[in-house]
Amino acid sequence: MTRKLRIGALASGGGSNIQSIIDHIESGKLHAEIVILLSDNPEAGVLQRADRHGIPHRVIRPDDFKEKDDHDLAMVLALKETGVDLVVLAGYMRVISPVFIADFPGRIMNIHPALLPSFPGLHVQQKAADHGVRFSGCTVHFVDEGTDTGPIIIQAVVPVLPGDTGETLGARILKQEHRIYPEAIRLFSENRLKIQGRHVRILGHTQDTDQSLINPSLPG
Ligand code: GRF
Repeated sequence: MTRKLRIGALASGGGSNIQSIIDHIESGKLHAEIVILLSDNPEAGVLQRADRHGIPHRVIRPDDFKEKDDHDLAMVLALKETGVDLVVLAGYMRVISPVFIADFPGRIMNIHPALLPSFPGLHVQQKAADHGVRFSGCTVHFVDEGTDTGPIIIQAVVPVLPGDTGETLGARILKQEHRIYPEAIRLFSENRLKIQGRHVRILGHTQDTDQSLINPSLPG
């Protein structure tokens, strides 16, 4: 048996994605361990989740640093001290700086609640609902120096329904986030993700070429 993937997680909020990763680990579906959870927010609900599951955690507050880079470097130091293999951003509400990315090349993932490259940035569930798109979804991608621009690993698609608000659409998307983030981490843990420019090649994956979704669905 290979050794467990050592995950360093960064989150600012409730942490339902972290919970899903924990659940996949505890049920044996993911051969990994969250060795440290870092937050920028002392009020983040995710800290209680970490407590409940015995995950070491620390709050590193941006206000305690003069420069943004110094805050990021403190995060990097904590991750390095713990010897993490993969950094997982899950609702971490700060853009990480190039100094951070340079220390973990190809080893930082993020989840975004839209089908990138559509709707990067914030409040994207609302923006997708307002725009009138027929589908939205979520994306797990490697982090590069842009905002939500890195190579895409996996996406899930959900329909946008008449009358959807940011909240109703967001809840539908979140359910899929909880499925695809653990899967992206599993593929990484099995060393099956190869970054080739903008593309992420998945080793040993057979594509279903007839897959399609149409909304509204065709008659018959
Ligand atoms: C998720 O929608 C994630 O895609 C976005 O922030 C939200 C975090 O939710 N980046 P949670 O804290 O994991 O519940």
